[in-house]
Formats: sequence, C-alpha cells, structure tokens
Amino acid sequence: MYSLYDYSNMFADKVRADTYIRALESLITPESVIVDLGAGSGLFSLIACKLGARKVYAIEPSNCIQAGKTLAKDCGFGDRIDWIQNDSRKIQLKEQADIILSDIRGILPLIDNNIEVIADAKNRFLKNGGHILPIVDTLHIALVENSKLHQKCLSPWKNRNYGLELQFLSERHANYWCSVRPKQKHLVSKAEKWAAIDYASVKDPNFSNTVTLTAERSASVHGFYLWFDTEIAPGIGFSGGPGKIRPSVYGCAFFPWPEPVEMKAGDEVSVHVEASLIAGEYIWLWNTSGFSSSESGKEAFSFTQSSFQSEVTALAQLRKRAHSHVPKLSDDGALQSAVLHLMDGDRDLEVITRKLMAKYPERFSKFEEGLAFVGNISEEFSH
Ligand SMILES: C[S@@+](CC[C@H](N)C(=O)[O-])C[C@H]1O[C@@H](n2cnc3c(N)ncnc32)[C@H](O)[C@@H]1O
Repeated sequence: MYSLYDYSNMFADKVRADTYIRALESLITPESVIVDLGAGSGLFSLIACKLGARKVYAIEPSNCIQAGKTLAKDCGFGDRIDWIQNDSRKIQLKEQADIILSDIRGILPLIDNNIEVIADAKNRFLKNGGHILPIVDTLHIALVENSKLHQKCLSPWKNRNYGLELQFLSERHANYWCSVRPKQKHLVSKAEKWAAIDYASVKDPNFSNTVTLTAERSASVHGFYLWFDTEIAPGIGFSGGPGKIRPSVYGCAFFPWPEPVEMKAGDEVSVHVEASLIAGEYIWLWNTSGFSSSESGKEAFSFTQSSFQSEVTALAQLRKRAHSHVPKLSDDGALQSAVLHLMDGDRDLEVITRKLMAKYPERFSKFEEGLAFVGNISEEFSH
C-alpha cells in the first residue's frame, strides 16, 4: 500500500513521468476518453485533462484516490474525472475508453495479479482500436560482478555474526532476489532478452525462458540482473537497465548465486528463469549451469534456486490448505462469522457491537474495542 508521499515521489521521477506524459501527448485528442488504471493520487489523470482529454476514469482501490478529487477541483478538472475507489476487476464503466494508461508494476512488471488486471481492463474497458499504455515491457538479463551486494544479500550481518552459526540463513537468503541500482561497470556479459510482455495480447501471467550468457571479461560472477525496458507509446519509452538516463523508482532485480563463480572472457552459462503466479504471488525459479575457469582448468557448476525456498513454511499452516482438510472455525473465525451474520442491512455498527459483546462478554473489555473489531469487518465487507 503506497502513501501520498510515495505517489508524489513516483511523479517526481522525471524519466518516468516525462515519458508517460509524452506518450499521452502523442495520443490524446479533445474526444479522448482515458482510463487511468491504478491512478494512485491521480496525477496522470490530471495531466490527461490538462492535455485536453474529454473524460477520465481514475480507478484506484486505496484511500489516496481521495486526494485526487481535491487536486482535480483545485486544477479546475473536477467535472471531467470520475474517481472510482475500487479494484478495476470489480467495476463496470459507463463507456469504453480510447486509451488505458497504467503503471502497476513493482521493481519488475511481474508482480501480484497485474497481468490479469491489465488484460481484464483491456477486454472490458478499451474500444476496438484503442491504445493500451504501456505497449510492451521487455525484460533483459545480464551476468554481474558485485561482491558487496552479494555479501549484503546472503549475509546482511557481514562479518559481525556475534559468534553465531548462521549458515541456515545464508542458504535461505540465496533464494531471495533483491533490488539494486544497476551500474554498467557491474555487467560481465551483454544483456540478453529474457521475455516480453505485450500488453495488448498477454493472457498467461507465467513466463519462462532459458538464456545463454557469455562473459566478456574475467570476473568473479555473483549472479545476474533482470530489468525491464518499456515502450509506452509508439517510439516513446525508457530503459530500467544500467545507464545514465533511467527512472529511479523501479530499481533492477539482482538474482544472486549461492557462491561466486570465477569466469574468463568467452565462458558461457545457461540461465533458466521461471516466474510462476501462484495464489496471487510470483514464485521465481532460477537454474544456472556452466563452467567456471580456474588455474587448474574448467569445472562444471550448477545451481537451482527458487524464491519458494526462501520461505519458512510452517507445515501446520500448509496442511490447512490441503484438499482433504476439514476446517472448523477458530474462536476468532466464529467471532467474525457472527459479525458478518449481523450485517444484514438493518442494524448499525453500535447495535452489532452491543449484540456481539452480549454473546461474547469475555472477548472485549470496552465498547470501543468491540466497535473497532466490527468496524474493520464492516470496512472490508460492507457497502
Ligand atoms: C505504482 S502505483 C502507480 C500510481 C500512479 N498511476 C502513478 O503512476 O503515479 C500502482 C497503483 O496501482 C494500483 N492498483 C493495483 N492493482 C489495481 C487494480 N486491480 N485496480 C485498480 N488499481 C490497482 C495500486 O493500488 C497502486 O496505487
């Protein structure tokens, strides 16, 4: 969940904001209807109005969208923007749009359900022949030498382990990827394309590809970077890779290897990367194999890593998801169920709270505590 401050910082990222604005400028006409998908505090909605759009539908589930309403009034665009505080998948629009604009990426574009969200918006909200922005995100991969970052990822405590045996943690940490500001000097190989997300046609959120990377110099290789370049509108985009002109908000992903590998120019490695969406979260798998170069010659190496292995899963929790599990409500579950049943469209929260407290007198010591509990459920599940 982002704060207003976060949205302002996204807007302050000149490379990102200028590119989106140029893309809008190139497409908006006085007849344009725009969907700002994941509008945040609505700054791109305001820009779309400033560029002359006839109508904007700003869709955003978080409360920050309320700031957009005030800003729209202050800018004189109040009547041209419909502010819709909801998940785009749960709403209908009065009309279809000429342009759908979104940036619901994280460090990488493969995050949460964003492929499904954009595909759904395209199918239901976009006119035939309309524009979906961005057009395409292309993900690139390159070998890197970055011992400082590698050590920071695998053993954040560096050499200060206070005499503890922490190998278990380092092994888990080798299965996390982390965000980095990439620099050209870190790269050991050329960047190769791993995947492209074509937003007009993408349906499958899962991506998988094997890429061969060739070292261009002798180096201790610590893993690889994965980043995206984007084309927002025809001929208008930016690169998130190492370089002087890159947006600051996204970063780039560093996928560490469990240990550094000595390589010489011309040495090749095969990197297989899979991103699989499971229950709304991406599991990343990266398998690497090749030969390291040492004084004594070449030695084969192979690593199998996955963000799944970084999770510390409690078996008891997992069992509750098994198809054969027969669930029975916990005390808290029973309490929530009671509140949901009381929310029948006739009673106000005070009545519901008093009824709940009468039924479960030992659960809340004060009316305010009960009301807060009921209020949370009401906020999530009521109209
Ligand atoms: C990276 S922020 C971008 C905010 C703003 N568009 C900007 O560029 O400054 C992505 C936003 O997408 C929103 N979002 C994610 N999934 C959504 C969905 N299904 N429907 C509407 N908004 C969504 C998030 O709440 C978040 O505010």
